[in-house]
Amino acid sequence: MGNVHRELLGILARKAGGLADRYGVTFPVVACADRSGFVLGPDAPGGRVSTAAMLEAKAGGRRLREIPGAAPISLEEALDAAGPRGILLDAASMDVETGGIGLRAARAALHRGVSVVFANKSAVALAFDELEALAAANGAGLGWSATVCGGLPVVNAGRRDLVAADFRRLRGVFNSTSNLVLGRMAEGMSLEDAVTEAQRRGIAETDPTNDLNGIDTALKLLILVRTVMRRKASLADVERTGIEAAPEPAAGEVVRLVGEAVPDGDAVRMRVAPVAVPRGSFFGSIGTLDMAVEWETDLFSTQRLVATEGDAVPTAAAVLRDAVHIACGTPTGPSLRIAGS
Ligand SMILES: NC(=O)c1ccc[n+]([C@@H]2O[C@H](COP(=O)([O-])OP(=O)(O)OC[C@H]3O[C@@H](n4cnc5c(N)ncnc54)[C@H](OP(=O)(O)O)[C@@H]3O)[C@@H](O)[C@H]2O)c1
Repeated sequence: MGNVHRELLGILARKAGGLADRYGVTFPVVACADRSGFVLGPDAPGGRVSTAAMLEAKAGGRRLREIPGAAPISLEEALDAAGPRGILLDAASMDVETGGIGLRAARAALHRGVSVVFANKSAVALAFDELEALAAANGAGLGWSATVCGGLPVVNAGRRDLVAADFRRLRGVFNSTSNLVLGRMAEGMSLEDAVTEAQRRGIAETDPTNDLNGIDTALKLLILVRTVMRRKASLADVERTGIEAAPEPAAGEVVRLVGEAVPDGDAVRMRVAPVAVPRGSFFGSIGTLDMAVEWETDLFSTQRLVATEGDAVPTAAAVLRDAVHIACGTPTGPSLRIAGS
């Protein structure tokens, strides 16, 4: 129930009619969670707290279980309430050490055949192969397109639309907070004020350290390497420098925090670092609220994707996109598997 899922609840309320008309799906919210634990959702039988009351409580800094009438439930009860056609949506805070509640909940969900959609990168970066196998074994769907560049369809397009291609190189400005901070600092703003702006927009992590030290960029790069390039790699393999070591740009240059992956035989070289790039180049020409990806493959040549995202709405919309693909059983969804594989 942080920025992303609060935006998602708003989208679900605004778009319910359109989703039903276009795709024949509805998304009753049967359970919600924050650090206080799980509670019955507004659409669960016996759920006595409305979406509006939950949003108001969270906006006021209160925990879900503090809301009068909230019914505390366990993770297992939440998954029972969802049932086998349910979808667990993980937008909990990042935990790069253990995967945190997101990974624990995803394992429990997939074992029961409940599908999972991630905005939280932790579980995908740490345990993608295990989660993919669990989903396949239990007939559940898996979506993670919101974990990389918010609403920009990097993961889904990369997995679905680069059929038979081999990567030569993949580069990206994946972290909007560091891009905003570098851009604002170049305009003369202090680091603290720039981080505050990113937090006000809902795009920074609660603790922005991982945005600025390159961990967030490294995780997104790793997710693309593992799930789009389909190479074995771990976070420890990423050579990483944060924006504190940003170089002084020459005239006509700007600094961007760039993640880069280059296949090298069976391995892959991965690097995250702040680099000075010409203002007229692809990465140099993007705006302070932009995220951008460039990939070079043998069959599709060079492709570039860029998005401007000033808040958490596109990420919430990406969560919904994956949920709709799963609910509709769309064969072109993010967890596309080739027959016999
Ligand atoms: N914001 C974006 O634009 C964006 C874009 C792409 C990906 N993401 C990823 O999406 C996730 C959510 O982002 P956000 O901006 O919504 O973050 P956020 O506002 O900080 O929200 C995180 C939520 O996770 C909850 N949480 C933390 N630990 C928990 C636990 N152990 N059990 C249950 N709930 C727990 C928090 O509970 P409390 O409310 O009690 O603190 C909070 O509601 C993050 O992993 C982020 O990296 C965000």
